[in-house]
Amino acid sequence: MTLRLPQLVSEGTTELAPLAAAAGAHRESLERLMRHLVHIGLFTEVDGSYGLTALSRQLLSEDGAWLRGWLDLDGPGTRMDLAFTGMLHAIRTGSSAYGAVHGTPFWDDYQRNDDLRRFFGDIMTAHAWQTGPVLAAEHDWADVRTVIDVGGGQGALLAEIVRANPHLDGEVLDLPAVEPEARQALAAAGVAGQVSFVPGSFFDPLPTGRDVYVVSRVLTDWNDEDAVRILRRCAEAAGDGSRVLIVEVLAGVDHAKYNTSFDLQSLVLLGGQERGVADFEALVDKAGLDLVESRTWPGGLVVVEGRPRR
Ligand SMILES: C[S@@+](CC[C@H](N)C(=O)[O-])C[C@H]1O[C@@H](n2cnc3c(N)ncnc32)[C@H](O)[C@@H]1O
Repeated sequence: MTLRLPQLVSEGTTELAPLAAAAGAHRESLERLMRHLVHIGLFTEVDGSYGLTALSRQLLSEDGAWLRGWLDLDGPGTRMDLAFTGMLHAIRTGSSAYGAVHGTPFWDDYQRNDDLRRFFGDIMTAHAWQTGPVLAAEHDWADVRTVIDVGGGQGALLAEIVRANPHLDGEVLDLPAVEPEARQALAAAGVAGQVSFVPGSFFDPLPTGRDVYVVSRVLTDWNDEDAVRILRRCAEAAGDGSRVLIVEVLAGVDHAKYNTSFDLQSLVLLGGQERGVADFEALVDKAGLDLVESRTWPGGLVVVEGRPRR
């Protein structure tokens, strides 16, 4: 996607010489690349003129936007994928390879590199627009007044919850670097008056006494020790009647066992790991929370609910 070949062909640049000039490519090498891309079905070639296929049309569609971003060799998706070149380090040490490859651990790079952070945040937001409505509808929010989304990113999940439950006061807690895009997203979702942004780290003490502490799709980014530290911060901040909701999207009971590529991605990128429901329940216990219940809802959404042990 970096050479924009599907775009150029779709705009009418269909012959080799003009395509090489427009893409800034070495003509003979581009010809070899195009021969391969025709071979794998990304383009057609008839009498020296290239055309699109169903596959390249899909890449150019609106739905293909995130994949175009991911496949851009100059973009943040490739920067993340390059962590896989440090797989050996990750397997030998059990920790993230991102810092070994790029010289900076992922979350430090993420705070400094606006493109990387927005790219990552936009992917999470796209998922949250799907999971948010289910959580908003299925969980009983009637007796809840205050809810804080810990590591809530741009706030898409919470936006869905408060929109469906106008009686709620919401807060998104995330790293200070996320604040500009979170404020923008909350305003665009029309909930800026109902949800405020709290800059901070979930490894530090959290705002106390909120009715619900949501921890959505955060724990996968961390090893067990750090995941327990995050949940312990929630347990310390929670009041007697408070609840901690771990929200995850899990592909069935054997999720951790079969979600092998995501599991390795969590390891090489972040030093994290995929887990199943029983693993999350064990973390709840270690963090000093009592398990209330674990529920599974449409779309594989799983909520593991805990309350502070007193
Ligand atoms: C995988 S995303 C999940 C986002 C969101 N909760 C969701 O369900 O879409 C992880 C989030 O953790 C945040 N994060 C990472 N380190 C953090 C820290 N130390 N304190 C607070 N948030 C942090 C990131 O900025 C990011 O928004």
